[in-house]
Amino acid sequence: MRTAVPGPQSRRLAEVLSRHESRNVTFLSENFPVFWQRAAGANVWDVDGNRYVDFTSAFGVATPGFSHPRVREAAVRQCERLWHGIGDVHPTAEKAALCRRLVQCTYGRSGAAARVILCSSGFEAVEAALKTAHLATGRSRFVAFRGGYHGLGFGAVDVTGWEFFRVPFRAVLAQCADFLPYPGCERCPLDALRTQLEALLSARRHAAVVVEPVLGRGGAVVPPPGFLRMLRKVTVDTGTLLIFDEIFTGFLRTGHWLACDAEQEMPDLLCLGKAMGGGFPISACVGDAAVMDCWPRSEGEALHTSTHLGNPLGCAMALAALDVLEDAGTVGRVRDTAAMLEAALRRVASSCSRRVRCVRGRGLLWGVELREGENFSAARKCAKLVTRGLGRGLLLLGGGERGNVLTLSPPAGLSQAQVDCLEQFLLGELSG
Ligand SMILES: Cc1ncc(COP(=O)(O)O)c(C=O)c1O
Repeated sequence: MRTAVPGPQSRRLAEVLSRHESRNVTFLSENFPVFWQRAAGANVWDVDGNRYVDFTSAFGVATPGFSHPRVREAAVRQCERLWHGIGDVHPTAEKAALCRRLVQCTYGRSGAAARVILCSSGFEAVEAALKTAHLATGRSRFVAFRGGYHGLGFGAVDVTGWEFFRVPFRAVLAQCADFLPYPGCERCPLDALRTQLEALLSARRHAAVVVEPVLGRGGAVVPPPGFLRMLRKVTVDTGTLLIFDEIFTGFLRTGHWLACDAEQEMPDLLCLGKAMGGGFPISACVGDAAVMDCWPRSEGEALHTSTHLGNPLGCAMALAALDVLEDAGTVGRVRDTAAMLEAALRRVASSCSRRVRCVRGRGLLWGVELREGENFSAARKCAKLVTRGLGRGLLLLGGGERGNVLTLSPPAGLSQAQVDCLEQFLLGELSG
C-alpha cells in the first residue's frame, strides 16, 4: 500500500461523484471506496497507486483473472474493424459465432438443439427467460426462492427473493412470484420443500420455477444434493418450465462448467452472463429449441430486442473469454485456487468458531457466515471486514440477504501467498 486508504486521489474523485451521481448508487464514506485504475491477473491498482488482491472478480466476472491477453487481443482486433453494429437488423459474423458457441457449450454437449437470445446485463437475460416461459406455457406466475438474486429490472426484481429490493416498488410490480425457502445446507431434507412445490405447481398456473443452482449474492449457499433433480422431476410432472440462473455460477465459478453439472440436470432455460463476456457487458438466455420456438419468427419487428443486442465487440470478447475458460490450464487453475481457498477458510472456521457460524461454498464461490455478537451485529462486523480488508490491500464483499456473509469469489490463479494474506487477515479479525 502506498497511501492510507482511500488515498487523496480516491477522496477527490469521491467528492466529484457525490455531487454528480445519483446518491443511491455508490456508497461513499470516510473510508470507502477506492477508485480503480487498472487490473491484471488477481491484482487491482487504485488511482493512488495502491495494489490490492481481489477476492471478488468484480462481482464474479473475472474468473480467469483481469486483463487476460487473449481477451484483450480479441477486443483490440475487433475494435479495429467494428465495435458496434445494428443488432437485430444486419447481424455480424461474431454474433452468429457466439450464438453457435453458446449452444455448443450448453445444450449441445448432449446433442440437443437450443436457441439463444443475447442481451447486455444479467437481469435482461432473466427477463428474456421469464418472457419465454410465459409465451411457451401461457401461464403467468413463477416460483422463485427466498435469498435468490436475479437482478433489478422490473421482471427480474419481481422474482428476486430479497424484500429489500422489492418493497420500495411493490405497488408497481406485477408480484407474479411465489417464494419458497432455499434449502440452506448440504444436509437439509428436501421432502418438505418438495411437498410445498408440488402444492403450488399442481394448480398449473406457474410458467416456470426460477432458481440459482448455488446462491451467489445470497451468500454462497450450496443446496443439498438432489435439489436440482427434485426441481426437474416436479416441473416435468406438472408441465412447468425450469429456469437455471447461472449468471453468477456459470463458466467454472463453482468448479464445474455450469453449476448444474454437479447433478447432471439441464433446465429448459439457462441464464448466462458475468464471466461469459470477459468483462464486456453481455449476457444470454439459452433455451431448449422446442421451448424457445414459442417465439414467432420475426416478420421485421422483434418482440424482444435491444439497441446493443449482439454487440460485435462483446461477441468477440465473449468468444475469446470462452476459449480461455475452456482451456485446460484455466480449469486447472480454478481447481488449485479453489483447493487453497477452501483449506484456508476451513482453518479460519475452526479457529474462529465463536465469530464464524459456518463456512460454505464450492469452487471459487465461498461464504463466511458470521454469528451475531453480543455487542455488534453480524452485518456490521461483515461491513467492517470489508473496509478493514481494503486498508490491508484485500478487496472483499459482503453478501447474504442480511449482509452477514463475507462472500469470496476470487479469480483463478491466486498464489498461496495471496491466500495466506486473506487467512491471516481473517484470523486476526475473527479469532478471540
Ligand atoms: C444470479 C444472478 N442473476 C442475475 C444477476 C443480475 O445481473 P446484472 O447485475 O448483470 O443485471 C446477478 C448479479 O449479481 C446474479 O448474481
